[in-house]
Amino acid sequence: MPRRALITGITGQDGSYLAEFLLAKRYEVFGMVRRSSSEKVDRIQHIRDRITLVQGDLHDQSSLISCLKSVRPEEIYNLASQSFVPTSWNQPILTGDITGLGVTRMLEAVRSVAPQARFYQASSSEMFGQVRAMPQNETTPFYPRSPYGVAKTYGHFITVNYRESYRLFACSGILFNHESPRRGLEFVTRKVSYEVARVKLGLTKELRLGNLEAKRDWGYAGDYVKAMWMMLQQPRPSDYVVATGESHSVKELVQIAFAHVGLDWQRFVKVDRQFTRPAEVDMLVGDASKARRELGWSPTVRFPELVKMMVEADLALFH
Ligand code: NAP
Ligand code: GDD
Repeated sequence: MPRRALITGITGQDGSYLAEFLLAKRYEVFGMVRRSSSEKVDRIQHIRDRITLVQGDLHDQSSLISCLKSVRPEEIYNLASQSFVPTSWNQPILTGDITGLGVTRMLEAVRSVAPQARFYQASSSEMFGQVRAMPQNETTPFYPRSPYGVAKTYGHFITVNYRESYRLFACSGILFNHESPRRGLEFVTRKVSYEVARVKLGLTKELRLGNLEAKRDWGYAGDYVKAMWMMLQQPRPSDYVVATGESHSVKELVQIAFAHVGLDWQRFVKVDRQFTRPAEVDMLVGDASKARRELGWSPTVRFPELVKMMVEADLALFH
């Protein structure tokens, strides 16, 4: 019998890679999707006939219970959230409700309907915020700097709490930034790769960005979904940092992206204060030695390769 997995957030970047990964492992894959007036399934269109979509929303407890009752999954990957940090200042209540309290709703549904299922929570390096140690690992204290980071910190601790209170097999993956050609257009890597392609093709003359000095530990989404699965295959549930261990600035990102198409970034990039944040996370760099040691996980794509992959994919979009 194939194993059954449920992915919330299957229409997102990670959901699409995880669905592909689990299909290759011969899982029966179910995805929870929220109702929309127009279907947004571009990222999973190519596997649409091999997965089953079930309606549900992290706002709505009864929909989560019905979803789990109908799917009866052995593994649950809770990837759904309001995931864009700037939106979390404009919509802090909604972000708290989906990204924070939504995790409790999922865990309550698991506890009452599928207590034997293994549960993965998509936690974030954004929880480290104003970092207390360098590099950050599973024991580094959190100091979130955005309503999103605060909501994710709640989601992390409620996952740990349900594991300890009810003995659920619940893991929290503290993933550092991970990108791909399927990244949403508003995130900085994709914004850069997409606009570099447009500049190269003469479709625009400038790229407006916020803080060029911010540094992130950027990896490839395809590598990171594998770590999620590995966590749920362990004998005991635990929490893991997943990161490359390298940090690069937004400035380095634009340098590499423009250089890849033979252009000098300084001619095109303009700093625009509308893209700076009320509070910034200046620098993130992860220490994934626990994941390496216990899961046998390591990243396969390095930063320059990732940027080039994204620029090439965006150039191909326009041809
Ligand atoms: P993403 O592309 O923004 O996808 C988010 C998903 O959540 C979408 O499928 C979205 O559905 C769904 N969703 C939003 N609100 C929902 C609701 N109320 N009920 C049900 N589904 C809802 O995010 P991602 O980059 O794949 O990230 C996956 C998860 O990992 C997120 O929780 C994110 O916060 C976390 N994370 C991401 C990173 C990263 O660097 N990518 C790092 C650490 C943690 P629609 O398509 O309908 O909008
Ligand atoms: N989005 C964006 N747009 N970011 C910009 C821009 C811009 O024009 N200019 C500079 N930046 C800087 C931001 O200030 C931030 O320091 C950095 O680029 C990365 O921004 P994002 O790509 O939006 O990602 P993020 O780090 O805020 O959040 C992502 O990673 C988290 C993990 O640490 C998201 O995927 C979160 O969902 C995830 O949890």
